Amino acid sequence: RQPWLGLIEMYRQYLPVSDRTPVVTLHEGNTPLIPVPYISQLIGKQVRVFVKYDGLNPTGSFKDRGMTMAISKAKEAGAKAVICASTGNTSAAAAAYARRGGMKAFVLIPDGYVALGKLAQALLYGAEVLAIQGNFDRALEIVREMSEKYPVTLVNSVNPYRLEGQKTGAFEVVDILGDAPDWLCIPVGNAGNITAYWMGFCEYHQAGLCDRLPRMMGFQAAGAAPLVTGHAVANPETIATAIRIGNPASWDKAVAAKSASAGEFNSVTDDEILDAYRLLASEEGIFCEPASAASVAGMLKVKDQIPSGATVVCVLTGNGLKDPDTAIKHSNSLFKQGIAPEIQAVADAMGM
Ligand code: F0G
Repeated sequence: RQPWLGLIEMYRQYLPVSDRTPVVTLHEGNTPLIPVPYISQLIGKQVRVFVKYDGLNPTGSFKDRGMTMAISKAKEAGAKAVICASTGNTSAAAAAYARRGGMKAFVLIPDGYVALGKLAQALLYGAEVLAIQGNFDRALEIVREMSEKYPVTLVNSVNPYRLEGQKTGAFEVVDILGDAPDWLCIPVGNAGNITAYWMGFCEYHQAGLCDRLPRMMGFQAAGAAPLVTGHAVANPETIATAIRIGNPASWDKAVAAKSASAGEFNSVTDDEILDAYRLLASEEGIFCEPASAASVAGMLKVKDQIPSGATVVCVLTGNGLKDPDTAIKHSNSLFKQGIAPEIQAVADAMGM
């Protein structure tokens, strides 16, 4: 069996790299496409649903796909430092790849709105973490300007190499299924990933590697749904902090992907997100973060539109371990504490 050497090595011919590009990799990519039979059966017709579990990347999110490219190209260009704004996952990935590539990583995060695991990662990977009293949208404005004024390379998804790396998620889906799915359901925040997936499907289609192109179904949290309402949200709010974004940078590209694919944008409430989050974990054994569950919540919300016989892929963008606070606070499981260390006390607690 050929070893997996990371997505730049494996998809080199589709990526803007050369022999002179120093590849900074943690062997990201090659994440599993997992069938979800319980969820498939909830749709009530012959439908095959899979999840692309990108939470199994080295830093626990799809951002690693974009970051291996962005950091390798920054290193090739001689950068000494990178900067990004982040709701958490980008900062973790930027920190890990930048440090591995021998660069400094500055990350701006919205103070108090980054899940615990992501903050822990950025700190331990060795980023310089700057928490601002403002939201992600403001942080992105600041870092865009910083990268013009100071010698720091911007590694948000407005950096085109990020999308180049992230399009490999679509390649992997086709490589496993043998064709594109009928539907691709994906959470949307800054709108980079939906843009990247569409690029990937289109490139594979042009190369003759798939016959179909999927409908791109983008899902936003109801309190942060600018692409659904058509106007920017000044104060976005959602429990899914990863997609707590009111003015997505790749707005136009995401709209173009939706239109060209006959797709849709829809919103899901925090309660719908939490229902899908618990369902994935407790019925399928798959622990994703709340933002990721928006793809499944959204698919279930519009399930009547899914044609019988369809193949649907939901992208699970981040690992559930990123956000332990939400998991503990919103699980429906029995959790009794302070039980006496005795057989009878435990049996009583078990209801036996
Ligand atoms: N899911 C997760 C887990 C994310 O972290 C993000 C974005 C998205 C979905 C949305 O992807 O922005 O390409 O539409 N997180 C960014 C960050 C904003 O800073 O980590 P998108």
